Amino acid sequence: MKTSSGRPDVRTSGRRSTLAQRDRAVIWHPCGQATDYDLVPPLEVVSARGLRLTLADGRTVLDAISSWWCKSLGHGHPRLVAALAAQAARLEHCLLANATHEPAVALAERLLALANAGQERPFAKVFYADNGSTAVEVALKLALHWQRQAGDPRRTRFAALANGYHGETVGALSVGDLGLYAEPYRPLLFPCQTLAPVPWRSGPEDPAWLDAGAEWPALEAALAPLADTLAAVVYEPVLQGAGGMRPFSPHLLCRLRAWADAHGVLLVADEIAAGLWRCGTPLASHLAPGQAQPDLAVLSKGLTGGFMPLAAVLAPTRIHDAFLAAWHENRAFLHSNTYAGNPLACAVACAALDACADEGIPSHVARHGPALRQGLAEAARTRPWLGGVRGVGMMAAVDLRRADGSPFPRLERRGWQAFRAGLERGALLRPLGDTLYLFPPLNTAPADLDLLVATLVDSAAAALA
Ligand SMILES: Cc1ncc(COP(=O)(O)O)c(C=O)c1O
Repeated sequence: MKTSSGRPDVRTSGRRSTLAQRDRAVIWHPCGQATDYDLVPPLEVVSARGLRLTLADGRTVLDAISSWWCKSLGHGHPRLVAALAAQAARLEHCLLANATHEPAVALAERLLALANAGQERPFAKVFYADNGSTAVEVALKLALHWQRQAGDPRRTRFAALANGYHGETVGALSVGDLGLYAEPYRPLLFPCQTLAPVPWRSGPEDPAWLDAGAEWPALEAALAPLADTLAAVVYEPVLQGAGGMRPFSPHLLCRLRAWADAHGVLLVADEIAAGLWRCGTPLASHLAPGQAQPDLAVLSKGLTGGFMPLAAVLAPTRIHDAFLAAWHENRAFLHSNTYAGNPLACAVACAALDACADEGIPSHVARHGPALRQGLAEAARTRPWLGGVRGVGMMAAVDLRRADGSPFPRLERRGWQAFRAGLERGALLRPLGDTLYLFPPLNTAPADLDLLVATLVDSAAAALA
């Protein structure tokens, strides 16, 4: 409702309306059914620190999913706050066409060094975008365009893994495999060959962690007829996130690499969720037992510690140089985003890399990440309604199921019940269907990891009561 001055009326029946009521009047929230907000109003977050969101009523809530997987160093990290403020005082934004600045260059240098360490196929250039979906589109366009400029214009098709998720723009939806997200837009999407589902592994302790021998023949058979027309194969390396938090064997990346090399196909690794130490290594692709560096790697989310929207596509010399020519030959890659390489975002990203190094994030993940999957596995031993415990790095997941192992009917919305129970118990869980998972900041303290596991299990039990 508006006042005569045109401003929103902050009173309802004589009382001041709450933020949640004002929100309901004007905000169209992402990724959900608006009527759910009648049952569960949005959390009124006033501040946040580390793992914890502080609400207007003084309660704190554990951000168990790092605010959609991006808060890799938790909320309000002082070093990142300082870097942002310092950069804002110097240069908040300028375009990256015909201009450059220290944060963009420094970040590119550092990302290349990180991604190339120990790898035989180095990346050489960084192309910036301002969100994950757009960066996936950049990689798809680069792959297609490169194939043409490298002399193979027949290569216009893409293949992607079943259960993959790559974002919400039309191209990213085209190579994704989450029907619900894409279905209404089918008429807009381009064809993409979805490969056979890849069986998940419970984690690095799984005896078949480093052996994709069983699933490779089906994938290879599906790829074979496309060998002459594919521009690229697109995948989330090692950890499929939105498709159900499914870790798969890193060995599969070696198989894909060898196949792609043999057939002139590019590999596009969407490292947006899995990269930057979420799975324990700088790139999740580095978990491959052997060389499996992709041709294009896409980073976002934790890149800025979740402070600012930023994404980067890493490319090798052979791809970059195929776009070099005299101006009139029209071979340039003309993609542009206004905020590509924004100085604030790049400066915070550099600070996030500093913090990761100085605070020993890789060893923290290696040492304490397993506690998540071990805690869930321990709980599942005596609770038949928890099944399929799995995890890698600082992520662990479990499925709610009936005691006989079968899934609950979708309409029962057990995951949603667990989400509501989680909020009552002080944790923001946000399951994927009936899959409950923990994706906390990489620097979460061991006691908080235990608290997250206990709260998840307790919430799951409440959802089944
Ligand atoms: C693997 C993966 N790719 C792409 C995206 C899309 O990123 P954004 O939400 O920044 O567009 C996501 C987001 O969850 C993701 O998990």
